Amino acid sequence: MKILVINGPNLNMLGIREPDIYGSQSFKALEEYVRSSAKELGLSVSLFQSNHEGEIVDVIQSAYGIYDGIVINPAAYTHTSVAILDALKAVAIPTVEVHLSDINEREEFRKFSYVSMIAKKTICGLGFEGYRKALEYFTFA
Ligand code: DQA
Repeated sequence: MKILVINGPNLNMLGIREPDIYGSQSFKALEEYVRSSAKELGLSVSLFQSNHEGEIVDVIQSAYGIYDGIVINPAAYTHTSVAILDALKAVAIPTVEVHLSDINEREEFRKFSYVSMIAKKTICGLGFEGYRKALEYFTFA
């Protein structure tokens, strides 16, 4: 199975960014964790990160016919982006949503997620491990 893992804005700042919320490990460490988890689970994985909504829409569209699953942490776009929701609906690729922090236990505005409307599953508050759990979904799919 080919899985595309998409990370949204500011996740490239992991380790520097609000370590009390997101931890002290770098984005590079997250990418390594995702790659090694995928290998252990027997999944083929590609990683993409962008700070730009339109680029995320483009990469979702280009996944059509190529990837069997998407794991996405849309970051701040979770709470604002109809465009990302529509792109995921358009390609109809099974999608699992991940958040490092527990978005239900933070500010009110983080509780709403557009992507949750289409996600097969939403995993939040587990840090890096959430990505592994998201990948595991595709081993049972
Ligand atoms: C996040 C949660 C979002 O609310 C926030 O905007 C992020 C990261 C998380 O992984 O916990 O950038 O998606």
